[in-house]
Amino acid sequence: MIFHQFRAGGCLSYVLACGRSHLAALIDPEISLLERYLGEASRAGLRLRYIVDTHTHADHFSATHTLAHRLSIPIVMHRAAEVRHVDLRVEDGEELLVGDLRLQVLHTPGHTLDSMCLLSGERIFTGDTLLIQATGRTDLPTGDPIALHASLFEKLLLLDDSLQVLPAHDYKGRTSSSIGAERVNNPRLQLRDLDAFVAQMQSLNLAMPTHLTEALRTNRTGAKSFSQMLEEASRTVPFVSSRELHRRLKGAEPLTLLDVREKDAYAAGHLPGAVHLARGKLELGIDAAVPDPATRLVVYCEGGAISTLAAATLRELGYVRTAVLDGGLGAWKALGLPLVFP
Ligand SMILES: [Fe+2]
Repeated sequence: MIFHQFRAGGCLSYVLACGRSHLAALIDPEISLLERYLGEASRAGLRLRYIVDTHTHADHFSATHTLAHRLSIPIVMHRAAEVRHVDLRVEDGEELLVGDLRLQVLHTPGHTLDSMCLLSGERIFTGDTLLIQATGRTDLPTGDPIALHASLFEKLLLLDDSLQVLPAHDYKGRTSSSIGAERVNNPRLQLRDLDAFVAQMQSLNLAMPTHLTEALRTNRTGAKSFSQMLEEASRTVPFVSSRELHRRLKGAEPLTLLDVREKDAYAAGHLPGAVHLARGKLELGIDAAVPDPATRLVVYCEGGAISTLAAATLRELGYVRTAVLDGGLGAWKALGLPLVFP
């Protein structure tokens, strides 16, 4: 049996593989580790058989859709998941076969309606149902403290004390616990009384996750987040530093600067000789603004992100000598380089 735990900030994800067949399941992958999962699987000679989300994540971006699409392997979630593109919907008591390993599904609603835990040998992957000295919150969409009480006290705490608890989150650098340790030490499991437990969950007053709406949108639809769009665009365009641009502007070869910020920002100060074309008008306005697609172009915005998306579009439109000012006007100003003020 092969086991890896991955950490991305407070997010924990796992690879569990059969030592004989090297078939593997990837549990709760997070988008920033996408290349690392592939690298580790390749290094260990693993073949991913399933990608599992223990529930619809509201606080981070799942890598399931991107990985499943890239590797042509099924996404597994609980039947109750309101997520498109789930290939294999599972229910309580069912098992996934990963070579000689068995992953048994325990439906544990509460943090979300579609929450499940996966039991395999001496390990249990608890998602956000049971965390180390905490539980998943119940105030996000489909959360339910009464259901969480039942999932914890009538399901998880009935399991063997020695089972290793592997949660989907830990913000204090801890890696695992056990059912026995949680029974004794977890402050949220000390109130067995249902009303007291519910009152406790309802009085947590936790801040909403930073990217709640975007995370739910992308995790439910399999679509891309803004940072994914940006990462993909940045692979298709070259960047120039402020110093390199300054050097180029003093050189003999013609160069066109394209400012893709809004009109007001351009009017308040822009680079010497820059042509203005707001990002929103890019596709329709570029032929009039820059008629020759062979023009040597450097695109900039305030911080470098919108201009990266714009430059990727321009390259698609045939402007094959388009580069991006790395860090945008912010980086240019930080060096004290000259601006034009109308
Ligand atoms: Fe969660």
